[in-house]
Amino acid sequence: MYDYFLGGKDSFPADVAAARKVQDRQPIIRAASRENRYFLRRAVRYLAELGIDQFLDLGTGLPTQGTVHEIATGARVVYVDHDPMVIAHAHALMIGGDEHRVRIIEGDAREPHTILDHPQVVRHLDFDRPLGVLMLGLLHFIRDQEGAGDVVSEFVRPLVPGSYLAISHGTLDGFDTRLVADVRLVYENAMSYQMRTRAQISRFFTGLDMVEPGLVPATDWRPDGVTEGVPGDKIGLLAGVGVVP
Ligand SMILES: C[S@@+](CC[C@H](N)C(=O)[O-])C[C@H]1O[C@@H](n2cnc3c(N)ncnc32)[C@H](O)[C@@H]1O
Repeated sequence: MYDYFLGGKDSFPADVAAARKVQDRQPIIRAASRENRYFLRRAVRYLAELGIDQFLDLGTGLPTQGTVHEIATGARVVYVDHDPMVIAHAHALMIGGDEHRVRIIEGDAREPHTILDHPQVVRHLDFDRPLGVLMLGLLHFIRDQEGAGDVVSEFVRPLVPGSYLAISHGTLDGFDTRLVADVRLVYENAMSYQMRTRAQISRFFTGLDMVEPGLVPATDWRPDGVTEGVPGDKIGLLAGVGVVP
């Protein structure tokens, strides 16, 4: 569905049908998906400029322009997704001449230890040095009853000071309640899904210091002029970066 929203051509017909239903009810979803990718680019660039040279990207999604290792040129990256189609495409399209820097593994973020203990992760990333963990557009697919809060803290626990956690997350704060119920229905038929309020998303950063400007609409996080032009309060996507003190 996300690939469809981004204008890609790699979706199954069933996903396109569900995506169209969401888009009919919530036309902003296309711009929000693009803004999410713009946030990814700004956040990764920001971290790379601070010297972060290794990333764990959880819920990578189909490879699309501006993947993490293309933005942070020179960094080592492990991409993780639980969707076998994403993994197949990633292997086919993403690595190019960067085999030495990039690893792609199939894994479920709801089971952090299976990812943190994965031989590719253990060999490729050095947890004794600062690391960037990315959870962009991921956590709204992990419900509270599946332990979303514990998932985040288990990924943060092994990080040394100076490591970063970036999150972007869907929110329906301020949206019309009828629309919210309608969109929820479409998504819930397709997948496990939970939008959260700003306060709920803030809790994922417990124990971390927030990088300026904090948890804000994705459009407002260190903007660089590349934007779909939608006001932050209409985008339905909050984003922030925290640092391990
Ligand atoms: C909306 S896309 C976001 C892609 C990318 N991170 C971005 O921000 O542009 C969400 C991705 O998370 C993946 N995903 C959802 N739940 C997951 C889980 N429990 N473990 C790993 N990946 C998951 C989906 O397969 C999908 O590829």
